[in-house]
Amino acid sequence: MKFRNPPVLLFILSVLSLSIPWTTAGTVSIDRFLQCLTKYPHPAHTIQESIYTPQNSSFQSVLVAHINNRRYSTAATPKPLAIIAAKNESHVQATVLCAKHHGLQIKIRSGGHDFEGLSYTSDVPFVILDMFNINSIDVNVADESAWVHSGATLGEVYYAIAAKTNVYGFPAGICPTVGAGGHFSGGGYGFMMRKYGLSVDNIVDAKLVTANGRILDRKSMGEDLFWAIRGGGGASFGVILSWKLKLVPVPPKVTVFNLTRTIEEGVTDLVYKWQTVAPKLPKEVFLRAQPQVKNIDTKGNKTVGVSFIGHFLGTSDKVVALLNESFPELGLQRKDCYEVSWVESTVFWAESPIGTPIEILLSKPTEPETFYKGKSDYVKEPIPKHVFDSIWKKMIEIEHIFGLEPLWWKNE
Ligand SMILES: Cc1cc2nc3c(=O)[nH]c(=O)nc-3n(C[C@H](O)[C@H](O)[C@H](O)COP(=O)(O)OP(=O)(O)OC[C@H]3O[C@@H](n4cnc5c(N)ncnc54)[C@H](O)[C@@H]3O)c2cc1C
Ligand SMILES: *[C@@H]1O[C@H](CO)[C@@H](O)[C@H](O)[C@H]1NC(C)=O
Ligand SMILES: *[C@@H]1O[C@H](CO)[C@@H](O)[C@H](O)[C@H]1NC(C)=O
Ligand SMILES: *[C@@H]1O[C@H](CO)[C@@H](O)[C@H](O)[C@H]1NC(C)=O
Ligand SMILES: *[C@@H]1O[C@H](CO)[C@@H](O)[C@H](O)[C@H]1NC(C)=O
Ligand SMILES: *[C@@H]1O[C@H](CO)[C@@H](O)[C@H](O)[C@H]1NC(C)=O
Repeated sequence: MKFRNPPVLLFILSVLSLSIPWTTAGTVSIDRFLQCLTKYPHPAHTIQESIYTPQNSSFQSVLVAHINNRRYSTAATPKPLAIIAAKNESHVQATVLCAKHHGLQIKIRSGGHDFEGLSYTSDVPFVILDMFNINSIDVNVADESAWVHSGATLGEVYYAIAAKTNVYGFPAGICPTVGAGGHFSGGGYGFMMRKYGLSVDNIVDAKLVTANGRILDRKSMGEDLFWAIRGGGGASFGVILSWKLKLVPVPPKVTVFNLTRTIEEGVTDLVYKWQTVAPKLPKEVFLRAQPQVKNIDTKGNKTVGVSFIGHFLGTSDKVVALLNESFPELGLQRKDCYEVSWVESTVFWAESPIGTPIEILLSKPTEPETFYKGKSDYVKEPIPKHVFDSIWKKMIEIEHIFGLEPLWWKNE
């Protein structure tokens, strides 16, 4: 498709001509917006200590604490006029209504793991509605459910479940610092997806603040909106305050392993076969293949190693026998396996060594650690062997661009 020049030019011109009034409007309306916030009734929770403007000394640290990608934490990254770190739903309602009234854009942020920084950047004047203070989790084992506020991280969810029970878990993502707000709005997949589906397949209720400042639950929002917020993308339909999760049963011990094979060890044949084997294994098995450039020797020769990372809702004897039957080339042995509790397996997926205390699930970075570009895709037909050969070659060729950072590329 060809771009037609005139409309594109026209668009750029109109943006340029609008940008000056917008900025002025931004500075004027932020003061009115902040005054507006205090006018709402905030029973027992004054909003003042939830408001950060660039004049507050902790503005910068609050801003970067939930930026996950360094690509969006540079001098050139547009900054919010204010951050409202809501502590109560009344603060969320006031922020929505006042921003609407004063024509300010709101960016809603929970865990700040958006791949493109959409929860904390904008090209028009904006404020961040930050949800990290609204993060309590209420697990009810008898009811096999949990109410989780949007500002909770996945690590906090896993930890809270394990504090009450070792025979229930929840199917969600592998990175413990991802936020419930954005993750569940987008679907949520992880190492139990084969057995239990996406997170949203196991979410049974939610509370949402609408653009009119009303609070709705599943019943009052209706099934269409409830369907849309579970996968339709964060921030499209309102501010999610909390989610009700249906817990899923897990055995008291699960099995995990991580076996790496290199090109020299015939990994191309293994990955090729993995593509047809992994989707047909019993649903209790999840087997991921994760390639990474490795040094072969100290002379600078490189290869690619693919880690076959597995999770089994059962004992190691069983998974060894299963894989020995359907994927003998992998050579999985009992000694490669660790039997751990379900919550310990979430620590394993977060790439902490076996035996790391589960409190690590609660730790949070204070600023972004890496620059990255994230992209996901689905492969519907097996990738031919020669394509893997080219992928390995390319990975080795461009590895120097990333320095010591591994080029990651995951698949399930
Ligand atoms: C290192 C890393 C690992 C990941 N691993 C996985 C994985 O294993 N499985 C998986 O499925 N995904 C994974 N993801 C993707 C992740 O689930 C999404 O990026 C998700 O949107 C992040 O949620 P968040 O709350 O942390 O992000 P945020 O950046 O806070 O928000 C993401 C989007 O949702 C909106 N939003 C946030 N909170 C709310 C709210 N309360 N109400 C309405 N809208 C809201 C934001 O405005 C933004 O548009 C990973 C991402 C990263 C960076
Ligand atoms: C930020 O500064 C204002 C003005 O001094 C103050 O009212 C507010 O409580 C401060 N915010 C926080 C989070 O401390
Ligand atoms: C907000 O405040 C009300 C009134 O004090 C309280 O009932 C409610 O639980 C609070 N919500 C949150 C998320 O803390
Ligand atoms: C390693 O590098 C050296 C010198 O660059 C080369 O001669 C040798 O063949 C390489 N070895 C392998 C296993 O690629
Ligand atoms: C794997 O299967 C082979 C042949 O089916 C059998 O001889 C061997 O004992 C099995 N090994 C394990 C660890 O189950
Ligand atoms: C698996 O092993 C690879 C290679 O050593 C390592 O980079 C990765 O972090 C490991 N992953 C897990 C989940 O243990």
